[in-house]
Amino acid sequence: MLHLTPIDLKRHAVKTLLIPVCEDQALHSDSVVGDLVATAMRVESFRGKRDQELVLHRPPQLPVEQVLFRGLGKADRLDPEALRQAAGKGVKRCIQMGVRRLWVAAPDPVAAGLEAEAALAALLEGVVLGNHLFDRYKQEKENRPLLRADVIVSADSARRYARLAARVEAVCRGTILAREWVNTPSNEKTPETFARSITAAAKKGGLTARVILAPELRRRKFGALLAVAAGSRNRPALVVLEHRPKRGRQTVVLVGKGVTFDSGGINIKTGPALGDMKCDMAGAAAVAAALLGAAALNIDRRVVGVIPLVENMVSGGATRPGDIVTSLSGKTVEIGNTDAEGRLILADAMTYALKAYAPEVMIDLATLTGACVVALGEAIAGLFTRDAPLQAELLAAAERTHERCWPMPLPEDYKELLKSSFADISNMPSAREGGAISAALFLSEFAGGARWAHIDIAGPAYRKKETAYCGAGGTGFGVRLLLDWLTKA
Ligand code: BES
Ligand code: MN
Ligand code: ZN
Repeated sequence: MLHLTPIDLKRHAVKTLLIPVCEDQALHSDSVVGDLVATAMRVESFRGKRDQELVLHRPPQLPVEQVLFRGLGKADRLDPEALRQAAGKGVKRCIQMGVRRLWVAAPDPVAAGLEAEAALAALLEGVVLGNHLFDRYKQEKENRPLLRADVIVSADSARRYARLAARVEAVCRGTILAREWVNTPSNEKTPETFARSITAAAKKGGLTARVILAPELRRRKFGALLAVAAGSRNRPALVVLEHRPKRGRQTVVLVGKGVTFDSGGINIKTGPALGDMKCDMAGAAAVAAALLGAAALNIDRRVVGVIPLVENMVSGGATRPGDIVTSLSGKTVEIGNTDAEGRLILADAMTYALKAYAPEVMIDLATLTGACVVALGEAIAGLFTRDAPLQAELLAAAERTHERCWPMPLPEDYKELLKSSFADISNMPSAREGGAISAALFLSEFAGGARWAHIDIAGPAYRKKETAYCGAGGTGFGVRLLLDWLTKA
């Protein structure tokens, strides 16, 4: 749906045009767009301040039907994320106005003081991501997405960035797929049906896919994963996806927490937002979608996705607090709390990944702890790693994609919190404080010798309210981050 198009606005008939505008700096070198901005600035209520909006109908002497201006604020505070947001909000607004086909005037990066490719890519991302609506369960669709968006650039840029639109679309398709998976309610997303949905997409996308079902998980002794699955009549599954280029320079394993619903188990969750726990597979969704992106972009490393899928439920068969289970690694785990289930399934998935693929790098994404949301809020993920170069690379990718991460510590002495009187380790820390850290330390016990990073996405994976280029619900957080890292690091 996305195109970079060099058109002459004097001649080319355009129905709806979106123009981002700064309050104190001209951003557009195209003279027609410049004149339109000058007209907009004569309207007293519009100054180009951040988030200001103006619609002009039928500007004189131009074959344009309507123009939507979006304010970006001051030029010295302009960054790619401001363009992403302006494009996202602009597209959302146009969708509300019933627009199906949109033209967007891209700012001249030199005038904007930004790196050209990063600025253009961000604008394109905002357009594609802002165009996603999740209305599968509504009989009456209130709005319809754009069918096509043309971003207007110079002929020179159109040539130089000929492949950018397709690349952005491939990445954003991943983000959108992850959002759709997260938003799917748990009655239509059991471990086995989700596994099938992933493998169907994987096969279409050119990945190899394998699903290990309950009998084989039992035979192979995935004791920690099976303990979480025990309370649900929906059986668990482990999905393994692989992108294998001809000359892969290293093996990267991505692990994603896939709890299709987290009731808490016997330590049942209280509180009003239990329905949001359909989002507890957002790590799995991001990893599966990132693998599809890796294939589409033909990333030059071998990338393996290891995705444990379970439902954490309550029943006569459920695992009890106090139970001791033997994980795949051989380590025994005392289940101090059945609601600390994510680390159990990740422990077995990581052990499996190390044995089967001996990766140089292993990164897991998980909606792991409420404590991480308390620490960093809804918009920022916690990044845990002892590998300084890997940390720097991931932080750089987080900066570029605005999928923000903040470095968190892994202090050895806090391992004290995970001591069990009866087993090798407890899944329940002895203190509430530092809950995101103790959860990460639990995982670190299963990371072997690989360069490993853990990203706790409990906050940013799912948002109650819509944001500039995302609707309420699943955000697809992590897909752009991982693909940026895979591409640039
Ligand atoms: N899935 C939750 C964490 C979560 C919280 C995700 C909020 C998204 C939003 C996780 O399984 C959990 O229940 N963690 C417990 C751990 C505790 C029992 C040690 C928590 O954070 O309270
Ligand atoms: Mn839980
Ligand atoms: Zn959980």
